[in-house]
Amino acid sequence: MAVIIDGKAVSAKIREEIKAESAAFEKETGIKPGLAVIIVGDDPASQIYVRNKGKACEEVGFYSEIHRLSADTTKEQLLELVHSLNSNDKIHGILVQSPLPKHLDEALIVNNIDYNKDVDAFHPVNVGKIMIGDYNFLPCTPAGVMELLKAYDIDVCGKEVAVVGRSNIVGKPQAMLMLHSNATVTVCHSKTKNLADVLRRADVVVMAIGKAKFLKADMIKDSAVVIDVGMNRDENGKLCGDVDFEECEKKASYITPVPGGVGPMTITMLMKNTLSSAKLKVSKL
Ligand code: GUN
Repeated sequence: MAVIIDGKAVSAKIREEIKAESAAFEKETGIKPGLAVIIVGDDPASQIYVRNKGKACEEVGFYSEIHRLSADTTKEQLLELVHSLNSNDKIHGILVQSPLPKHLDEALIVNNIDYNKDVDAFHPVNVGKIMIGDYNFLPCTPAGVMELLKAYDIDVCGKEVAVVGRSNIVGKPQAMLMLHSNATVTVCHSKTKNLADVLRRADVVVMAIGKAKFLKADMIKDSAVVIDVGMNRDENGKLCGDVDFEECEKKASYITPVPGGVGPMTITMLMKNTLSSAKLKVSKL
């Protein structure tokens, strides 16, 4: 039976560290790290995510602003808000909650965020920096995965890692972070032939495709580490990941549950990036 990786516990510990670091930073500089979150429209899942980001800021002692805009907000109105936050000294991190309503071009909006405040690490400058390995912000979910591995002393150096999914938010940056940690990385996707053959070679499998219980026990090797970034509903409407947990738990050495695995780490990494941004700004003054 696998060790179940406790993302809630790891996350709580890191948030305590961030809180202490933020308090020390504020004492020294008089500056409180500040995060602005923009949400456009009333997507219910996004509302919950945004509320949790606000709560997390409170928990670690950050200043936060949540800007709730109506679904018919124009590109010009949204850009005006982004530009005003870019020049607002109280704000060190800006996050535009995705998805945006269809009439708004997400790439254009992200490109207009000051990349020094882009705590999601979605701006092309930050994406490029991650590629080179010279970064200020790590993308939150992939960074959360790396922190979980670290917390359980799982070293990927020299190991075969398969990342399933090639999104700009998770799959691609996850592959890059694994590479920076000296793993041998294979990125798999919907066109991959013989997926199970690739996965059965992998010491670590990261699933990020958004398909409920897709990964079965016969697709992994004995004692594989299984990381589940998926967040889906099963046939009974219950929250589940991309991994068939009941099956894979019996064969894996470590496994993340859904919920309570990678999920709690994402917002924690957002807090970490916001603190880094505030510190960076001071170091440049
Ligand atoms: N929507 C779902 N996850 C995320 C995220 O990490 N960042 C942003 N901006 N929007 C999201």
